[in-house]
Amino acid sequence: MIEEISRIEAEALRRVDEVAAIDDLRLLESDLVGKRSPLAEVKRAMGRLDEGQRAAVGRRLNAAQRAVSDRLSARRAELEAVVLLGRLEAERLDLTEVRSGRDAGHLHLVTQVIEELEDTFVGLGFTVAEGPEVEDDWHNFTALNFAEHHPARDMQDTFFVDLGRPREVLLRTHTSPVQVRVMEKRPPPIYSVMPGRVYRNEATDATHLAVFHQLECLVVDRGITFGHLAGTIDMFTKAFFGEGFSSRLRPSYFPFTEPSAEFDIQRPDGSWLELGGSGMVHPNVLANCGIDPEEWSGFAFGFGLDRLAATRHGVGDLRELMSTDVRILSQF
Ligand code: DAH
Repeated sequence: MIEEISRIEAEALRRVDEVAAIDDLRLLESDLVGKRSPLAEVKRAMGRLDEGQRAAVGRRLNAAQRAVSDRLSARRAELEAVVLLGRLEAERLDLTEVRSGRDAGHLHLVTQVIEELEDTFVGLGFTVAEGPEVEDDWHNFTALNFAEHHPARDMQDTFFVDLGRPREVLLRTHTSPVQVRVMEKRPPPIYSVMPGRVYRNEATDATHLAVFHQLECLVVDRGITFGHLAGTIDMFTKAFFGEGFSSRLRPSYFPFTEPSAEFDIQRPDGSWLELGGSGMVHPNVLANCGIDPEEWSGFAFGFGLDRLAATRHGVGDLRELMSTDVRILSQF
């Protein structure tokens, strides 16, 4: 009988070791130590033994039962650890993890357009510059040749900041002040683009935002002509939108350019999109920035990015660009 117990024990331990899933272990447990298990059978059969044998067989049986239940507990602990590890891995949330793919979030539509435009202009040999969103009157207006009481100041509905003298500090109404900062900082030749956020105190609707984005372009060098302006606008139009697109200039007025023009781009279907303003940098602006207008000339243009991004992706209402709703954001 002792041999029989050893055989049952060895077989039980082998089966415990082979179990790979916690649920199978539960089933096996009732097979091995339950009321109908081979060891329980042996225990029942012990009644037929005489007293001397019974004690020895009983000790052996107890040892076998303990060995089997110890092995069962050890195996249960192992399998539970495996289950836990699997769960931890599946539910892992690493806030520092960098993931690729659209589901991990991506740049905002307007930021994508800014980066694409920067790449286009860098490819044409331009550098990228930035300026502050809180500006002073000098950079936003005065240096750009806006006369003190010129109505153009009121055309740009300005948010003033309660700092300095009245109307001295403001949220920039366009990216043109960055032209001034670039010219003040370094001598020509200058070939720069300046993207950024701008602010206007106006009611928002489907086609107007109070906070929007522009990209400014400035070239100052010897012998720059209106032809360079028209050529650059056309080249960037084709590089950014595609070969089927072209551009045109229409006479206009800006205090900081002379002559001035608005520019439109034509889509392959023949329709026009008004994009922005442009012109030859006014000699007063060059002089205000310490550049000799007798020696240097330049052109500049600037345009809004939000309408451009919206048109390109069929967004009907500009206010959706300000949305934090992922159902909108994840489309781009
Ligand atoms: N700053 C002008 C605006 O916001 C756009 C503009 C016009 C920019 C002519 C220029 C320019 O650089 O030359 O309406």
